Amino acid sequence: MLLGISGSLRKEATNRKLLRIAARLYGGPFTEADLRLPLYDGDLESESGIPPAVETLAAQVAQAEAVILATPEYNQSLSGVMKNALDWISRTPGTPWLGKPVAIMSAAAGRAGGARATYALRLAMAPFRPRFSSGPEVLLAASSGQFDPTGDLTNERALKTLGEAMETLRREARG
Ligand SMILES: Cc1cc2nc3c(=O)[nH]c(=O)nc-3n(C[C@H](O)[C@H](O)[C@H](O)COP(=O)(O)O)c2cc1C
Repeated sequence: MLLGISGSLRKEATNRKLLRIAARLYGGPFTEADLRLPLYDGDLESESGIPPAVETLAAQVAQAEAVILATPEYNQSLSGVMKNALDWISRTPGTPWLGKPVAIMSAAAGRAGGARATYALRLAMAPFRPRFSSGPEVLLAASSGQFDPTGDLTNERALKTLGEAMETLRREARG
């Protein structure tokens, strides 16, 4: 199973749309994570333990053959929603990210397509020692204008790069 994690919660998120196209290109079963988690709070953790939604997410990461993380760029960094999820997962037992094939990408409004957000996300992921994919960078600039009403990616160049990235990730995950 391929797991997709979008750092944007909104229904029409271009990061979510990008993930869905990526999953189609990757092939096989796809699960989309739900990052509607409580904000990390040590009191909540000590009083109620790990929230069920976090346990579900950590189990999905552990079970996935590969994970795609797609983050919007917020003020030159990754979204708080994404960082909150990473912090929560780090509080669960086990090491679900260790050695996991992971591809990082971004869809953003700016001309750089979220380049700074993907660097920030890479740094945020480093403590968990995943296996970062060696595929080409997928940075979708001016993302709100790159999809048609059915959610298809209309930018041929981006589609080609995404295809190469998914081919690399699949090869790395399946050997
Ligand atoms: C708080 C905030 C900060 C933002 N900062 C940036 C930024 O630094 N660079 C950028 O390219 N876009 C920035 N944007 C625009 C987002 O890239 C844009 O809203 C993007 O479409 C969000 O992804 P989504 O479509 O998946 O929700 C910002 C948006 C918000 C809400």
